[in-house]
Amino acid sequence: MTAPPTVFVIVGSVRAKRLCPTIAAWVADIGRSRAEFVVEIVDLADWPLPLDDEPGIPALGSYSTERTRAWSEKIAGGAGFVFVAPQYNWGYPAALKNAIDHLYREWRGKSAIIVSYGGHGGGKCAAQLRQVADGLKMRVAPTMPGLELSDDMMREGKVEPARDFASHLASVELAFAELAALLIQPPEAKQR
Ligand SMILES: Cc1cc2nc3c(=O)[nH]c(=O)nc-3n(C[C@H](O)[C@H](O)[C@H](O)COP(=O)(O)O)c2cc1C
Repeated sequence: MTAPPTVFVIVGSVRAKRLCPTIAAWVADIGRSRAEFVVEIVDLADWPLPLDDEPGIPALGSYSTERTRAWSEKIAGGAGFVFVAPQYNWGYPAALKNAIDHLYREWRGKSAIIVSYGGHGGGKCAAQLRQVADGLKMRVAPTMPGLELSDDMMREGKVEPARDFASHLASVELAFAELAALLIQPPEAKQR
């Protein structure tokens, strides 16, 4: 019997008082209710990659720093990804773009879910991230949950996802079901 594939839940923000680890932990637990894959959290704060420090073009696949090589090895081990990311000024965090841009083939063609959050659910963050994922030929689950933060949550920097995002539970579950289906698609159907 082969081991189930690993899905990495990417914690997409790194600032000191961020909500992302709490939200990503909630999302990861929902994913863990499925038997088709194992879920592991990857926190970008644990992978401090200097901004664009690779001198070459990542798509060519030759990395010059030990840090990038370790990041490459990590991401290469993921069959699928769940990007959990807040909206920052109508986009997604620079730390996430930097982490994506350090690599190329490790993301290419793989399956993904995009979960955004923000005052109105972070739809603009999700749309931008979707475009980048399309560029990497990733297969993105059609359901992209957008979790709404209230002013209080933002001001106090606190959230209780199981309570505050209860109305989004079904969409996160649906996105994981879509990811499970994408993960078993035959290789020839994977490339667009
Ligand atoms: C630099 C920055 C820019 C932000 N821009 C937006 C925005 O455009 N739209 C929005 O709804 N919320 C915005 N917010 C509020 C964030 O969505 C909210 O603070 C969220 O908790 C940030 O995620 P984090 O706590 O994981 O860093 C912004 C917050 C920061 C720090």
